[in-house]
Amino acid sequence: MLLKIPNVLSKEQVEYAKSKLLDADWADGNITAGYQSAKAKNNLQLPESSPIAIELGDIVLTALAQNNMFMSAALPLKIFPPLFNCYQGGRSFGVHVDNAIRQVPGTPVKVRTDISMTLFLSEPDEYEGGELVIEDTYGSQSVKLAAGDMVLYPATSLHSVTPVTKGRRLASFFWLQSMVSSDEKRTLLFDMDMAIQSLRAQVDDSPEIVQLTGVYHNLLRQWAQT
Ligand code: NI
Repeated sequence: MLLKIPNVLSKEQVEYAKSKLLDADWADGNITAGYQSAKAKNNLQLPESSPIAIELGDIVLTALAQNNMFMSAALPLKIFPPLFNCYQGGRSFGVHVDNAIRQVPGTPVKVRTDISMTLFLSEPDEYEGGELVIEDTYGSQSVKLAAGDMVLYPATSLHSVTPVTKGRRLASFFWLQSMVSSDEKRTLLFDMDMAIQSLRAQVDDSPEIVQLTGVYHNLLRQWAQT
C-alpha cells in the first residue's frame, strides 16, 4: 500500500524544522547507505547523532503517535529514528531498495524495515525536480507532497529521487517494523479499519459494527507479531 498522509506536521512545525535545518551541519548522504545504494545516492544528510536530527526526529515521532491514519496503516512495532536529507544543485538518488535491517545507532536494537516513509519539509514550489518515484504494484508513482505531508510505502519497493535542478528539497525519511510484516495483510486490516470508522461516523454502534470490530481484532491477533 502506498498511502499519502496529510498534515503530519503543522505549518508552524515545518517552519521550525526548516529554520533548524538551515543552520545544520550536513554530511554526505552515503553515511547510512548500503553498498548498492551508495553507488546511486548523491545527497546531503544530517548525521544520526546530530542534536538537531534528534530534536526534530522526536517532534516527528510525537506527531505520528497522535496520527490515527498512520497508526492504522503502519501498525508500528519499532520505528527507526527519523533522518533528514537535503537535495539541491542537481543532486538525486538513483533506483534502489532500502536495506532490510537497520540497527538503531548506539543501541543493540535492530529494526526490520517493512515500511519506508518520506515526510516532505519543503513546499513543492520551492524546488524543481525532486520527485520520489516509487515502483508500486500498479506501476510507477511519482510523489511530491506539500510540506508537512508524508508518504508511506512498502520498503520492498524500488524507488528513486529525481535530480533537484532548482531550489532545495528538505525531507525527513525513516523506516519502521510493523507488527504485521505482510503488506497485503496490513492493507486488508487498514481498509477494514477505515470502513468500520466510517460506518461508526454514520450510524450509532450496531451489533454488526461490534461484530466487524471483533473480526478486525481477531485478524490482528492472528497476524500480529510483537
Ligand atoms: Ni531509499
